[in-house]
Amino acid sequence: MPGTRIKGQPPISTSRMLTSIILFGANSYASPVVPRSPSGLKHFVESSLEDLSSALTRLFSPHSSTPTNTRTSRCKVYPGDTAWPSDEAWSKLNELTENRLLVKPTPQAAVCYPNEAVYDAEECASLTATWNSSYSHYIHPIEMMSPVAQGMTCLPPNVFDTHNCTRGGFPLYVINATKPEHVQLGVNFARNTGIRLVVKNTGHDFLGKSGGKDALSIWTHHFKDIEYIEEFVDDKIGYSGPAFKAGVGVQAFEIYKAAYEKGKTVVGGEGETVGIFGGYIQGGGHSPLTSLFGTGADQVLSFDVVTANGTFVTANSTSYPDLFWAMRGGGGSTFGVATAVTVKAHPDMQTTASRFSFTSAKIGNETFWAGIRAYVDYFIPNADAGTYSYFTLIPNVWTGIFTFNMSPFFAPNKTLNETQALLQPWLSRLANLNISVDPNITHFDSFYTAWRSSFPLETVEKINATTGSRLFPRANFETEEKRDELYQNLRQSSENNRVQVHFNIKAVDPANADNAVNSAWRSNILFAQQAVRWPPNGTAAETLKIRQEFQTGDMQRWRDISPGAGSYLAEADRLEPNFGQAFWGSKYPRLLELKKKLDPEDVFFATTSAGSERWRVESVDGLPNENGKLCRVEA
Ligand SMILES: Cc1cc2nc3c(=O)[nH]c(=O)nc-3n(C[C@H](O)[C@H](O)[C@H](O)COP(=O)(O)OP(=O)(O)OC[C@H]3O[C@@H](n4cnc5c(N)ncnc54)[C@H](O)[C@@H]3O)c2cc1C
Ligand SMILES: *[C@@H]1O[C@H](CO)[C@@H](O)[C@H](O)[C@H]1NC(C)=O
Ligand SMILES: *[C@@H]1O[C@H](CO)[C@@H](O)[C@H](O)[C@H]1NC(C)=O
Ligand SMILES: *[C@@H]1O[C@H](CO)[C@@H](O)[C@H](O)[C@H]1NC(C)=O
Ligand SMILES: *[C@@H]1O[C@H](CO)[C@@H](O)[C@H](O)[C@H]1NC(C)=O
Ligand SMILES: *[C@@H]1O[C@H](CO)[C@@H](O)[C@H](O)[C@H]1NC(C)=O
Ligand SMILES: *[C@@H]1O[C@H](CO)[C@@H](O)[C@H](O)[C@H]1NC(C)=O
Ligand SMILES: *[C@@H]1O[C@H](CO)[C@@H](O)[C@H](O)[C@H]1NC(C)=O
Ligand SMILES: *[C@@H]1O[C@H](CO)[C@@H](O)[C@H](O)[C@H]1NC(C)=O
Ligand SMILES: *[C@@H]1O[C@H](CO)[C@@H](O)[C@H](O)[C@H]1NC(C)=O
Ligand SMILES: *[C@@H]1O[C@H](CO)[C@@H](O)[C@H](O)[C@H]1NC(C)=O
Ligand SMILES: *[C@@H]1O[C@H](CO)[C@@H](O)[C@H](O)[C@H]1NC(C)=O
Ligand SMILES: *[C@@H]1O[C@H](CO)[C@@H](O)[C@H](O)[C@H]1NC(C)=O
Repeated sequence: MPGTRIKGQPPISTSRMLTSIILFGANSYASPVVPRSPSGLKHFVESSLEDLSSALTRLFSPHSSTPTNTRTSRCKVYPGDTAWPSDEAWSKLNELTENRLLVKPTPQAAVCYPNEAVYDAEECASLTATWNSSYSHYIHPIEMMSPVAQGMTCLPPNVFDTHNCTRGGFPLYVINATKPEHVQLGVNFARNTGIRLVVKNTGHDFLGKSGGKDALSIWTHHFKDIEYIEEFVDDKIGYSGPAFKAGVGVQAFEIYKAAYEKGKTVVGGEGETVGIFGGYIQGGGHSPLTSLFGTGADQVLSFDVVTANGTFVTANSTSYPDLFWAMRGGGGSTFGVATAVTVKAHPDMQTTASRFSFTSAKIGNETFWAGIRAYVDYFIPNADAGTYSYFTLIPNVWTGIFTFNMSPFFAPNKTLNETQALLQPWLSRLANLNISVDPNITHFDSFYTAWRSSFPLETVEKINATTGSRLFPRANFETEEKRDELYQNLRQSSENNRVQVHFNIKAVDPANADNAVNSAWRSNILFAQQAVRWPPNGTAAETLKIRQEFQTGDMQRWRDISPGAGSYLAEADRLEPNFGQAFWGSKYPRLLELKKKLDPEDVFFATTSAGSERWRVESVDGLPNENGKLCRVEA
């Protein structure tokens, strides 16, 4: 119905709408697969919008047009609200996205519940057997690897019996996006209807930031193209050299392999299934190569991104430089949805890695801890030498035994002898303490082969644990006294039954990129994690109390000895207090300004994202999870 007048807006014709929808990018595709430059919507939108009533058309319009009901209502729009989109609107969204809208995708564990249509005991058994592997979940449109953040409403009964399988914090609709146009349509639809929008890539985020009850989700997993660029020149950044342009669904195991085949490496995570070009890179991202090259975000040369108003743009040093600054470290799901990212490629390099462990079983507690204390003396030199060490401290409440696991000590660009020389001072002290270790020090010709055989596949889907983290700066290691204090605090956490995971790493960027990466990373020497655990069958109130006491207790002790430092936003606790300071340090004020400028209507939201203080998920059980409506926080 061209020309129909919609509430308070001038008459618009379908053809004018179409013009604006089609023309929101200036360039055209140079490559049909991974566009080198963003462009506008393609013809399918034009033809499919012809017959739309303008009321329906408006839902897909790139114009800023928040409906009045969402301006005044306290919460985002949910099923049951009069403003909830009609079935016709959803089916139009499906049609416009080329039938890529998934309606109520079934939670994976539904196969385990007899009253579910998909019930299948055999499938349930095989799913249960692989449930704690990330490979079982990243392929799924809604599953996130933290059920605690989802609200624990549908798990295999052998893992946790939820009695029934309900959707909880899972989204209701998912766009299985493969083109920027699909993303634009989703962003416009969410903004114009006022419903909640989430973005899911792999679901690895520790805080479960890819979930949201009854939301529309943009699932980015299938943006899988990788393009090698021999010479990328950006005078402003001061870079001239090889690069990779990768779709945002590309994961660590894919980009590392692709880089290896070109004789290159890129900065990516240690975890093999992490989505390197989604949440990882926008959140900073630490890597086995970070002590040499800085964080993941420091490598970015360009983003292709759909902004909050539905525009598809290139964000680089000269085009949308504010957006470019913010998306390099400012966190995912905050400023836009990236569809592709261009990053620096570095030359491949020999790498040496070593794994070893010891326990307190035969040597006793004091000797065990003396061995750990000795190690703390080498954190600064090891990070300065460009290494990345990944180690755990595991308590066992039943036996009273502590275990140290080095898995691995990773030395990129180092020969076997150089690595031995780095480890020797500490290993000698362990020997003097009669702590016997048998380090397997192995040399590899390339980063890729070293990475493949050295890192563990971590357990995911923990049902009764949450991790808190701290970026301990160099100041914590500069004097004997400070090292004693730090060590005492790690020991205290072990004695309080915290599982600890540590990364001895530095993140100084040699190119000195000006971006939104947490300023606390720049002086980091030990990125430390500790987990709190609780009885899985306790009440919500009991669980909340344990989680709060973790923050006021063990986490506060760590904060107290590192004033002004921070925490890493992708591996952290939803209850981290004053998260803006903790996750971004001195960068936070500018991020808040840019959030207001680039997403004035809060189309994008994730718990603990920049500017998220204005909203809160009102979870049904009162625990910090996604199982509830997203509502404004009353002033
Ligand atoms: C087993 C495991 C290993 C890990 N290893 C490492 C590691 O070595 N180094 C490290 O730094 N971190 C690591 N992490 C943490 C990891 O960086 C975060 O989980 C990160 O958020 C993963 O990003 P993702 O896109 O894969 O995950 P998701 O959980 O899908 O997304 C994370 C956040 O980013 C947003 N997002 C995703 N894609 C986009 C996009 N294209 N545009 C806008 N927003 C987007 C999502 O909305 C969400 O808010 C690990 C986590 C796990 C569980
Ligand atoms: C993961 O699950 C497998 C199979 O159930 C089990 O053998 C393994 O111990 C589990 N790993 C961890 C760390 O829980
Ligand atoms: C599970 O669902 C059944 C049937 O829908 C219902 O009768 C029962 O009360 C539910 N149980 C729980 C624990 O919610
Ligand atoms: C999502 O899209 C990809 C690419 O077209 C396809 O292979 C996959 O099967 C789709 N997934 C679902 C759940 O529809
Ligand atoms: C940044 O993006 C703009 C717009 O696409 C482009 O013209 C410019 O060449 C890009 N800059 C670099 C250094 O690639
Ligand atoms: C070591 O310390 C743990 C925790 O404090 C304790 O449970 C255990 O009994 C101690 N072991 C010995 C041998 O003293
Ligand atoms: C790798 O080692 C070589 C030889 O020591 C050195 O010249 C080069 O700068 C190192 N590369 C990096 C990235 O540190
Ligand atoms: C490594 O060190 C050993 C002795 O420590 C020495 O014999 C050997 O020559 C060294 N190898 C290299 C390649 O430097
Ligand atoms: C290590 O063991 C040796 C021989 O058993 C013993 O003489 C020495 O005192 C022990 N050292 C320590 C630090 O326990
Ligand atoms: C040492 O580690 C390498 C690489 O991980 C492995 O191939 C080798 O089998 C290990 N050697 C021993 C003795 O365990
Ligand atoms: C957490 O859950 C696991 C698996 O159910 C259980 O073995 C462990 O004891 C629980 N932890 C606590 C502190 O209750
Ligand atoms: C929780 O489970 C533990 C062991 O599995 C049991 O001892 C305890 O009684 C249970 N608590 C509740 C409240 O059901
Ligand atoms: C859309 O957003 C971008 C980035 O914030 C901005 O530059 C542009 O002017 C906006 N376009 C419209 C039509 O508002």
